[in-house]
Amino acid sequence: MVKVALAKGRLEDETFAFFKKCGFRFKERGDRSLIVEDIGQRIQIFIVKPLDVPTYVFNGVADAGICGTDSIVESQFKLVQPMKLPFGKARMVVAGLEGFKPKNGTIHVATKFPVSAKTYFESKGFDVKIIKLHGSVELAPIVGLAPLIVDIVQTGRTLKENGLSILEEVYPISAVVTLNDVAYRIKRTEILSFLERLKRGIEDESPR
Ligand code: PRP
Repeated sequence: MVKVALAKGRLEDETFAFFKKCGFRFKERGDRSLIVEDIGQRIQIFIVKPLDVPTYVFNGVADAGICGTDSIVESQFKLVQPMKLPFGKARMVVAGLEGFKPKNGTIHVATKFPVSAKTYFESKGFDVKIIKLHGSVELAPIVGLAPLIVDIVQTGRTLKENGLSILEEVYPISAVVTLNDVAYRIKRTEILSFLERLKRGIEDESPR
């Protein structure tokens, strides 16, 4: 059985829908259950916080992980990503109040994604101070915690409803499959057949 760490929240429903398309079948499950197996006992899914998916995979507790590219960047683990999935599309962006112009000196940036934010601003030669938040990041420029945020934008609704604009794109995001390399060596046949099933699911979805 392939053990898969899956990001709870936005990707969770899309991934289960995709798994069903790939031929996996599941029993009804409780909202709070954290381990789910398919009826054919091919996969065992661990439901974890998105930023924890790489940790489960890197430590070999899960053979594979499904999360957004942002979680892998933030983890700083070097993980193999053999497959991009056709959902979970979003963007990591810099946003702020319309017309914001950086002054000389240190830029304050509020974010849930400190690695992405720091790497981006430092690569542009800015001296940056990261203010780590755990959610509702769009509030920061409005109440004066930091003029800029680095955050994920999917539909753009949250930015719009809070009067913020995208100032720059940091990187595009999609859901990806990641693998533990030791598991891949030991359980190669099982993992390859899991990936093959996903690949067929993607091909069935693609326009012909
Ligand atoms: C994410 C992200 C943005 C929002 C973007 O937050 O950090 O706040 O979704 O989505 P949109 O472009 O479709 O509006 P999430 O909903 O996970 O909540 P959080 O702020 O509590 O982290």
